[in-house]
Amino acid sequence: MTGKFITLEGMDGAGKSTHIPSIIEALQARGYEVVSTREPGGTPLGERLRELLLHEPMHAETETLLMFAARREHIANVIEPALVRGAYVLSDRFTDATYAYQCGAKGVAASKIQMLEQWVQADLQPDITLLFDVPVEVSMQRLSAARTPDKFEREAADFFTRIRYAYLQRAQQNPARFRIIDANMPLGIVDKSVKDIIATL
Ligand code: TYD
Repeated sequence: MTGKFITLEGMDGAGKSTHIPSIIEALQARGYEVVSTREPGGTPLGERLRELLLHEPMHAETETLLMFAARREHIANVIEPALVRGAYVLSDRFTDATYAYQCGAKGVAASKIQMLEQWVQADLQPDITLLFDVPVEVSMQRLSAARTPDKFEREAADFFTRIRYAYLQRAQQNPARFRIIDANMPLGIVDKSVKDIIATL
């Protein structure tokens, strides 16, 4: 594989999605093909699973299994083919989100997620993961101002705290892959940090 796999992570309300257009632009300006995608989703089947995942109440392990079902489809049909032809793949969330939400916040055993990860991804890991980190109160404030919350966003502050710390723990465990971005700064400063990181890829 010759392309690069970039993932964006963070709590709801951390603001990661805001930066997608400028990341795409910066990479395209350097002549790369960019495939911008998201999880859950990224394929027609994955988007149908996303609808269920975001709106249908279900057991946390069911949620985990469906995330990985969507992910299998996403890798086979979008991510791998793009990487093979040398494209940069930019995914708004990937497996770190399963560790943060389903394991960290909802208590699904990490060992179960590891088994699914091994099965579905084999050796595939992001080359770089941008973690947009904000204090819980900030993310909750941004969300309540922004839109009608989905199933995951209606959860309480302690749930968000568990997500935040699970992400930070993932970053600590994978220091070579993660870049933590202080997303509580003014937008221009966050945008500059993101662009500086992208420039190194
Ligand atoms: P999100 O990126 O917040 O989409 P949007 O900005 O359009 O609302 O993703 C939707 C939700 O999916 C988010 O709350 C986190 C959740 N999620 C998981 O719980 N586990 C996962 O593995 C993934 C990929 C997402």
